Amino acid sequence: MSAQGENNRVTIFDTTLRDGEQSPGAAMNREEKVRVAQALEAMGVDVIEAGFPAASEGDFEAVGTIAREVRESSVCGLARARRKDIDRAHEAIRAAPRHRIHTFISTSPLHMTHKLGMDPEAVVEAVHDSVTHARGLVDDVEWSAEDATRTDPDFLCRCVETAVKAGAGTVNIPDTVGYSFPEEYGSLIRMLLERVPGADAINLSVHCHDDLGLAVANSLAAVQNGARQIECTINGLGERAGNAALEEVVMSLRTRRDRLPFGHGVRTEHIMKTSRLVSAFTGFQVQPNKAIVGRNAFAHEAGIHQHGVMANAQTYEIMTPESVGLTESNLVLGKHSGRHAFRAKLEELGYALDEASVDDAFARFKALADRKKEVFDEDVVALVDDAVHAHGERVRLNDLDIHCGTRTRPQTAALSVMVDGAERTATREGDGPVDAIFNAIRAVVPNEARLQLYQVHAVTGGTDAQAEVTVRLEAGERTYNGQGADTDTLVASARAYLAALNKLLNQKTKEGEDLLSA
Ligand code: KIV
Ligand code: ZN
Repeated sequence: MSAQGENNRVTIFDTTLRDGEQSPGAAMNREEKVRVAQALEAMGVDVIEAGFPAASEGDFEAVGTIAREVRESSVCGLARARRKDIDRAHEAIRAAPRHRIHTFISTSPLHMTHKLGMDPEAVVEAVHDSVTHARGLVDDVEWSAEDATRTDPDFLCRCVETAVKAGAGTVNIPDTVGYSFPEEYGSLIRMLLERVPGADAINLSVHCHDDLGLAVANSLAAVQNGARQIECTINGLGERAGNAALEEVVMSLRTRRDRLPFGHGVRTEHIMKTSRLVSAFTGFQVQPNKAIVGRNAFAHEAGIHQHGVMANAQTYEIMTPESVGLTESNLVLGKHSGRHAFRAKLEELGYALDEASVDDAFARFKALADRKKEVFDEDVVALVDDAVHAHGERVRLNDLDIHCGTRTRPQTAALSVMVDGAERTATREGDGPVDAIFNAIRAVVPNEARLQLYQVHAVTGGTDAQAEVTVRLEAGERTYNGQGADTDTLVASARAYLAALNKLLNQKTKEGEDLLSA
């Protein structure tokens, strides 16, 4: 048995902040990326791929900030097979106590010809040069063969051998286009282990896309055939159909130890919280029937199922809700609860906020408790996320008055906002109240952003539930997601739009343009 086969621990490599964030519309700002990285670290992820530092100044800064914050997990930066890219990745990650450079190049005929315009010899040379250069900077280097599953097997063996000899400690075999079948992919991994000299001494990694819905199945088949690193993302976020979902991978490993006797370091109880965080920041809602983290994943509606579960949970449950961090909806505080109790609840929910954010969230909680009889954990999470986002924003909602109804045509919104502490007002008409609100916002803060997404979901059940609204704005090459929560859907809509707009304003300020001075 190879060294690889004797190693029964699977390295969990999370790429939510790189491959996940790369998917159109999923952009996060630096603060959000840091919070996701902290959640991944708390969850026990081994390697956090924090971004692609050479892609932009913003990516470089975000990776650098994460490297300064994260202590336990290894922080990884992606780089093309170019010395400049590799140097940039190194500069960004070096502050982290554990860090890794991940360099890649395409190896399939299609990619070499049409994407790179390089012949196979030049690609092999680039593999050698990039890995050697990266190893000159750090001890921990990962090399990936992009589009590996459509690569000629002999050529793939040659490239892997080159990377191993140049010092890569991890070699990744991506199914870039989600084309492989589990048995086929498992055989590919086994073939590499058997044929490539030295492959058994390094960590062979897998990175699967979900175009045929097989990303998790392929990843697990690879592990059964000797791979010992799985690259994955929270909620399966990623380009096109996404990447292998971290929560599905680790819950498969936990639930089916009989078939997959491999350990990992993930504290699965953190799954739900991290899933919600990523969903809130990206505006990508999790489908209700999504495995592990979907709203219905542990719901037993059918009477016959409910009866069985009440008699013995194992009748229909192969995992406990607690094992993924899903606790009973707790009735929390009432309108007489004080700041002390509220702070204790925040701690229980895993928030470590500064005093100003606690004050802001507490004021919102009091206002909510006045309007809503029962305040649940989910309500607290929604209002705290809202307050954290709103903290430090330059444009804040002050007042909103709507005229709408079946006989009111057109609908109007009278809006008052505070811009850097000074009031600005506007009244605008619209095709419906939401349109009127957004028109009024555009009147007080003129901007060119296009509305790309408007989405509402109820935080809890009941007609007095808070609405959580997501707005995505697009300006130039960038998108900005904003969230707003309130028992009044229209107020939540205004807050969500302003949250996205504030992100846009911050970005423009960084680029030297102040849209608020107009
Ligand atoms: O899918 C892919 O091939 C990738 C590589 C850059 C690892 O994301
Ligand atoms: Zn990928």
